Amino acid sequence: MRLYIVSMEKALRSLIDWYDRAGVEVPDLPLERSVRRVRPKPAAQPTPPPARKPKAPVFTANDPAPIAAACNTIAELKAALDSYDAGALSDGARQAVLARGNPDAPLMILGEAPGAQEDRDGLPFVGRSGQLLDRMLAAIGLGADESYIANVCFWRPPNNRKPDPAELELCRPFVARHIQLAKPKVLLLTGGVSMEVMTGVKGIMRNRGQWASVNVGGQDIPALPIYHPAFLLRQPELKAEAWQDLLSLREKLAEFAG
Ligand code: URA
Repeated sequence: MRLYIVSMEKALRSLIDWYDRAGVEVPDLPLERSVRRVRPKPAAQPTPPPARKPKAPVFTANDPAPIAAACNTIAELKAALDSYDAGALSDGARQAVLARGNPDAPLMILGEAPGAQEDRDGLPFVGRSGQLLDRMLAAIGLGADESYIANVCFWRPPNNRKPDPAELELCRPFVARHIQLAKPKVLLLTGGVSMEVMTGVKGIMRNRGQWASVNVGGQDIPALPIYHPAFLLRQPELKAEAWQDLLSLREKLAEFAG
């Protein structure tokens, strides 16, 4: 008899299971608890948070990228910088400093940022470090109209401090447009800040004298990082290394001559 009940229960249980799997609601039958195998309910899934709408990019009237892209000449770029609000950077400076020299020269030099005298005169590299830069260029036979000199930051930072990363990012679209408009064959990057902005590489002591390639608007331009002349004024013993770098620059320029 016991055997009969057990096999009845077995049959019933498998029938209930079959209905259950077929998705049929089976009412509670008066069976022993052990007969009815209750299927564990799937654990409640956490409700995913409602999908957020992607934020539209914020283009303020002050976004430098479209302003720079709209400049079709160096004169237009200068006018755009003159009226550009770069916040604390332009508030603390007398004027935007763009460039000096020959915009058609094959060599474009990029320094860090204007200093006090550059801020007064509105021209880059006209102070003591600029005078050394001119002597360095003259030493490899380059006259005043054989290079085009600019910076990666267009305003003198308050108290002559280094431009901070946000300020450099703000200047970046203008720097890129400046290079696109001047179309240099070779870039000379004076100092670690200029090197980092243009190549993404840090460490001027390790990387000076190593040619890099900088892509601007789809154009690859050979770029040579060298010590900043202001640094050479403080560390004149490094001038021998700077001289090697200048010779390397002269060789590269010779490839584009004629
Ligand atoms: N140092 C720079 O990097 N740029 C200047 O214009 C002057 C000093």
